[in-house]
Amino acid sequence: MKVLVTGGAGYIGSTTAAELLRRGHEVVVLDSLVRGHRAAVPTGAAFVHGDIADRSVLVPILAEARFDALVHFAAFAYVGESMSEPAMYLDNNVARSLVLFREALSHGVRRIVFSSSCTVYGLPARLPLDESHPKAALSPYGASKIMCEQALRWFADATPDLSAVALRYFNAAGATEERGEDHDPETHLIPLAIDAAMGHSEPLVIFGDDYDTKDGTCLRDYVHILDLAEAHALSVEAGDHEGFHAYNVGAGRAYSVREVLAEIEAVSGRPVPFKVGPRREGDAPALFAGTELIRDRLGWRAKFSSLARIVSDAVRWHPQSSTASVDRGE
Ligand code: NAD
Ligand code: UFG
Repeated sequence: MKVLVTGGAGYIGSTTAAELLRRGHEVVVLDSLVRGHRAAVPTGAAFVHGDIADRSVLVPILAEARFDALVHFAAFAYVGESMSEPAMYLDNNVARSLVLFREALSHGVRRIVFSSSCTVYGLPARLPLDESHPKAALSPYGASKIMCEQALRWFADATPDLSAVALRYFNAAGATEERGEDHDPETHLIPLAIDAAMGHSEPLVIFGDDYDTKDGTCLRDYVHILDLAEAHALSVEAGDHEGFHAYNVGAGRAYSVREVLAEIEAVSGRPVPFKVGPRREGDAPALFAGTELIRDRLGWRAKFSSLARIVSDAVRWHPQSSTASVDRGE
């Protein structure tokens, strides 16, 4: 199939583009590089430098390529930033996505896969979180994902042969040989803790250790980017899948912040310097996915998402390792 991947220079998009190529699909990456890295785009993919809402770029590639599928990753993705810059998030994640969806639909694209997030659920009323849990985002970022999901639901209602899939990722983590997490600024636990262990940053601050959890720190469901990439590929390839579908993508189990730090210490052989700070606003004590729906409908299950595998891949890839520096042309 011919697949347009927006945000394919980013962490999850570039890994998915590589997986789509490996499975024999033709891939065009559209990315403005506002947050991504040109070097992360896989060699076999065509690269178009541009914004998803720039019709002067978008329309010619849609008209020329006649894409079978759109996989839409391009977005801003920091909960905290969205609280201080809500308009920026509504513009980039909602308004620009609508331009992209509209043009894709009018150019005959009938499969859309969208990067959503478990943050759409807000504070969990029950665990594991299943897809029917009420949506109550606590941030403009989370709300932007709900708005795009709702738009896709309406588009699917109005376009009977459209398959629109929202994948609600839990905590994307890990790396492949070629690609890994390289956000600027970085806010995610695993890369920050590896940085601290390598002595490249200040000690990690644990955001609260007085939660009602087994060791007082928050529990999260970490899912390997290779598993995320496969979930996108299966969504693109699914037959008989018209309509709007939302699926959780997580490992279905949760690890505490302290367990993550212990695993990084075990893998790297270095202690992770840390101090305990106050709770971070909006953090739920525990989040983990119910994944029956994606398993039953798409045959997906997490294969690479043990904490040991995630952490060893992340440590091996980490930007400070010599391999990663070479891959990124530094
Ligand atoms: P990322 O920042 O690494 O990648 C996003 C990419 O989109 C970047 O390459 C950026 O340059 C590009 N981009 C942003 N706005 C654009 C625009 N208007 N036009 C063209 N390109 C644009 O982020 P990521 O961690 O790979 O996340 C990818 C997607 O997954 C996002 O939609 C994010 O909200 C979602 N998500 C991520 C996580 C996570 O844990 N990382 C969890 C849930 C959902
Ligand atoms: N944490 C710390 N110290 C840090 C960073 C994180 O203690 O310096 C803790 C957080 O409190 C949380 C856990 O580590 O308990 C994971 O935090 P991350 O910031 O790595 O990830 P989040 O769970 O906050 O958010 C991520 C993505 C969001 C997505 C969400 C879905 O960043 O885009 O997963 O759960 F919406």
